[in-house]
Amino acid sequence: MRFLTVLIVFIFHLFHTLSLAVPLAKRATLTQVTNFGSNPAGIRMYIYVPDAVASSPGIVVSLHGASGNAQQQFQSTPYAALAEQYGFIVIYPESPQGAWDATSSKSLLHDGGGASQSIANMARYASSTYQANANQVFNTMADAYPDLFKGAIIYSAGSSADIRSMYPGYTGTYPKLQLYLGSQDTIIGSSAFNSTLAAWASVLGYDTTPDQVVGNTPVQDYTTYVLGSKLQGIWAEGVGHPVPTQGDNDMKWWGFAK
Ligand SMILES: *[C@@H]1O[C@H](CO)[C@@H](O)[C@H](O)[C@H]1NC(C)=O
Repeated sequence: MRFLTVLIVFIFHLFHTLSLAVPLAKRATLTQVTNFGSNPAGIRMYIYVPDAVASSPGIVVSLHGASGNAQQQFQSTPYAALAEQYGFIVIYPESPQGAWDATSSKSLLHDGGGASQSIANMARYASSTYQANANQVFNTMADAYPDLFKGAIIYSAGSSADIRSMYPGYTGTYPKLQLYLGSQDTIIGSSAFNSTLAAWASVLGYDTTPDQVVGNTPVQDYTTYVLGSKLQGIWAEGVGHPVPTQGDNDMKWWGFAK
């Protein structure tokens, strides 16, 4: 009797494991891509292609924080789950040094041989491999590739560099930008908020006086400063570094959610 019970329990577990294993085996996972093209800064590329990938999908490049990595970014942000919902592809670049080179002359120049070029090549590779919608290629930084990235959402970083100088001769449009900063962020510092918005206002042809100041938006205690249809600063009162990813709001800014 004891043996029979053990056998039944064993068989039950076996079936249970098998029935779980089948759907798990075909579920999308985070995958490294090593052949994405020229990689002057030695950045690693990880990609998440959702099971429900759209035909002509969008692409989101999600950068980890200064001491993070791709796996951690994959697990700690909602983009993979949102990718399943909206059908876009997520690229998680990984810097072997942890921190990103966002300030060297190589990274601040279009095709200048820095980390930004490696990342742009990842987006170009994914665009052609998955026949992406070129109007839906987005990232979480603002850089020297306005021709490639159509919209950015920056969480807890700032730059008053003039992005027009990063791509001399470029005559196209510049991406829409949302900037988040927490009032308790001692790493970036509060002055980066208005100086970054001012730099972008100049690029996008806006003045620095907000058209609208909307309280408790997108969430309680956050204030949204609207400088124009392509530029918003979101001040997160009481929040430190970094501001948590606002996935649903990101979907609206990038146009995946209507
Ligand atoms: C940014 O500028 C707005 C006015 O446009 C001002 O009300 C706000 O206090 C400034 N924020 C910071 C963090 O300096």
